[in-house]
Amino acid sequence: MTEKGEADSLLVTGGAGFIGSNFVRYLARVNPQVKIVVLDKMTYAANPHNLDGLSSNPIVIRGDVCDSSLVEQIIREHHINGIIHFAAESHNDNSIRDAAPFIHTNIYGTYVLLEAARSHGLRFHHVSTDEVFGDTSVEDVTRFDESSPYHPSSPYSATKAASDHLVRAWWRTYGTRVTITNSSNNYGPYQHVEKFIPRQITNILTGRRPKVYGQGKDVRDWLSVEDDCRAIWYVYCRGRLGQTYLVGADNRLSNLAVVQMILRMMNRPLDEVEFVGGRPGADRRYAIDASKIRRELGWRPFQANFAKSLEATIEWYKTHESWWIPAKQMTELRYQQEGH
Ligand code: NAD
Ligand code: DAU
Repeated sequence: MTEKGEADSLLVTGGAGFIGSNFVRYLARVNPQVKIVVLDKMTYAANPHNLDGLSSNPIVIRGDVCDSSLVEQIIREHHINGIIHFAAESHNDNSIRDAAPFIHTNIYGTYVLLEAARSHGLRFHHVSTDEVFGDTSVEDVTRFDESSPYHPSSPYSATKAASDHLVRAWWRTYGTRVTITNSSNNYGPYQHVEKFIPRQITNILTGRRPKVYGQGKDVRDWLSVEDDCRAIWYVYCRGRLGQTYLVGADNRLSNLAVVQMILRMMNRPLDEVEFVGGRPGADRRYAIDASKIRRELGWRPFQANFAKSLEATIEWYKTHESWWIPAKQMTELRYQQEGH
């Protein structure tokens, strides 16, 4: 398939975070002629080293998506003709402790960018989550699709739902050229150690026990970050304007099953798991029906073998200790204070 970007000067918000930096790497590889400008506040979740070693270096600007004058200045100075919006506060546990930055960045920040897209006539792609649909029971066999009703549970997912509604309103009201992807749980390199899979791997690597919330029965639908980045780029380039596309790879597993796979792969006994207190209002199960993006855009997951990609992820954390060690102690201290 030929991947041809509409934009030759792209603003990537949150490009120093997990998915954003994987996306910048992906795009630099498949479409090196696209000029990439990263706007990132460099919160605790970012790591400027995420963008090291790229042959075509992106321009990286430290700043807030809520700062409309800065966004305006970047668009003019760099002749931006498209925005891919990753920047967000992304961690559910943090949103339960303090929702304020989530409301500010995820809702107001999206509004600022939509206004910029509207006034400059830019193409705008919004990176969102399957969590906007809420959850199903663990026993359920149904999957979310593009017509599923919005039913978010946590402060984080409520802010993402609000931002999706803003994007749709800008399409309907102003005709801003928007698309949205709602993806399931990503995993892979450069994911912060606060998230489930990296936390368990790095716990084992630092002599801690893997920590599983509740009884570990909740189910997540795992998607390799590279497959998600390719889906986002397909939708940006060829998605129908005003449309939403769900992205998932049908890798549904209970949290306990994932931890047991990690323990086996790292040659540790299965009873090393420690069960800790769960999240208030925790979502039980996510499940994505990705038929629309498969049918319309020919996307499919290349890394459909979860076990193989999980092994590769474990290997990445083993060989990139200097990347994650600085964040590990503080993250575990925070979890300890919260009883997780
Ligand atoms: P992340 O927390 O790893 O990265 C977020 C990035 O945004 C960081 O670099 C941070 O510094 C930046 N940022 C935060 N506030 C900002 C602000 N006000 N201005 C500019 N930059 C700011 O998150 P992630 O996991 O890479 O998620 C990226 C996007 O994808 C988010 O919108 C998230 O909701 C969505 N998403 C994530 C997943 C997942 O499994 N991780 C799945 C579906 C959708
Ligand atoms: O579904 C997409 C969403 O996936 C994204 O929108 C979010 O940005 C991303 O953080 C992720 O949200 P989750 O809450 O599903 O991911 P997290 O890695 O925090 O937790 C996954 C599951 O594992 C969840 O059921 C809680 C559980 N968990 C988490 C941690 C950190 C544990 O059992 N132990 C842990 O230590």
